[in-house]
Amino acid sequence: MANLAKLEDIVSLCKRRGFIFQSSEIYGGLASCYDYGPLGVELKNNVKKAWWKSVVHMHDNVVGLDCSILMHPLVWKASGHADKFADLIAECKSCNTRTRVDHLQNHAEEHTEHVNIDVELAATHDLSNKVCPKCGKVGNFTEPMPFKLMFETQMGANVDDSMTLYLRPETAQGIFANFKNVIDTTRVKIPFGIAQIGKSFRNEVTTKAFTFRTREFEQAEMEFFCEPGTDENWYEFWKEQRFNWYTELGIKKDNLRFRDHDPDELAHYAKACVDVEYKFPFGSGDWQELEGVANRTDFDLRQHQRGMRTLNSWYEQKGDLTQIQLKDEAEDYNKGPLSYFDEQAKKRFIPYVIEPSAGIDRSTLAFLVDAYDEEEVKGETRNLLRFHPALAPTKVAVFPLVKKDGMPDIAHNICKELKKYFTCFYDQAGAIGRRYRRQDEAGTPFCITVDGQTKEDNTVTVRDRDSMEQKRVSTDQLLNYLRDKLEI
Ligand code: GAP
Repeated sequence: MANLAKLEDIVSLCKRRGFIFQSSEIYGGLASCYDYGPLGVELKNNVKKAWWKSVVHMHDNVVGLDCSILMHPLVWKASGHADKFADLIAECKSCNTRTRVDHLQNHAEEHTEHVNIDVELAATHDLSNKVCPKCGKVGNFTEPMPFKLMFETQMGANVDDSMTLYLRPETAQGIFANFKNVIDTTRVKIPFGIAQIGKSFRNEVTTKAFTFRTREFEQAEMEFFCEPGTDENWYEFWKEQRFNWYTELGIKKDNLRFRDHDPDELAHYAKACVDVEYKFPFGSGDWQELEGVANRTDFDLRQHQRGMRTLNSWYEQKGDLTQIQLKDEAEDYNKGPLSYFDEQAKKRFIPYVIEPSAGIDRSTLAFLVDAYDEEEVKGETRNLLRFHPALAPTKVAVFPLVKKDGMPDIAHNICKELKKYFTCFYDQAGAIGRRYRRQDEAGTPFCITVDGQTKEDNTVTVRDRDSMEQKRVSTDQLLNYLRDKLEI
């Protein structure tokens, strides 16, 4: 089924109803940075909760972690980001706009996130037929050059203890750096996963489509460590798990697909990678990456063993990271400090890693787009968000039909009681029909109305957002009724 929503509708609804605002709006806004408003923060928190539940709590062999954003600079040397995490850009000589070369070539390929390139080896590209997206001039570009994507910052006040640090461009490296800590302090045995949700930062050349591609964003990543040789099975397992997560939370199957990476598109660390793509209502190609599932092999742990060997010379130099040479790998790297000892098989090895890596802001946008609906009701357009109950920012709204005859007190009491279990919103302002419409637009699954009959027989009406059907439910049964329907 095609998406009904257009991006403009979503942006306008988000602003109008307090889901998402432009950052620093009172100062004219800061490009590509967004703030989540009262409804948006609830929605985004619910997306994170649903991910954590599905990836961590529902698996006996997955544990969580919350690492710092700032890490030792050698982490980024070892991971390859210091040398390779860059986009190839070209500057239009007419208007000085810099554009990613891969975006110039073919806008239908906009789904490509980042092509990892060697900073020293900016390959020559023929741009003679390419059009500047800003001024329209053809073939008037500088030679392509690499543009580094990591944000730099300075730590420390004194010359001898200050150093350049980087805002992490992915949360994954904090997990690799804590692999040994987790093994040493828990009873996890391979195969097992370590999961983390947190902010990442990339100085993107082109930001895009509202919260789809921004410079500050949140990722939900899990590194699943397994024995080499079992990696391909685990890759299939997590691929399926992650696809199902979206559909179980209400994303229409027709709007979701897998796309395997071509060999030349693979990140420097990956043996295989598949994107879960969503049919977003923007861009020329529609299908856009929502999440990647990658087989990272033993690349990262091996690289960090090299990083650990390089530490002393880094302290002597402490200079530009690209100038530092990582020490070679030890011959017996398989027995190194980040290896794993399998007690049963009595063997030591560096585990392989399967990584599902999702974007929280991007999936929140997909849930918003997919839930958006419009329908004609009695000659009027009803806008609604058909969120899965687990994601709905407000689960239940409670209204007194009128502001008299003791109805507000009863409604307040019901709301107070329900708040112990889920988010509940009290509203007595305006006509009842308008109150329903406001909740439809916020995606609230159920509205409860206290009316004249409530005092007589202790029942209230419960209105279903999607069908608009109303049922009378006894106040004694209300909590059970709602918990059953909301599945919480
Ligand atoms: N650790 C692997 C990794 O970071 P990635 O494909 O670069 O892989 C994973 O990022 C996910 O993070 C993407 O699928 C996307 O959902 C999200 N993401 C990446 N860059 C983003 C950006 N600039 N804005 C919003 N989300 C982004």
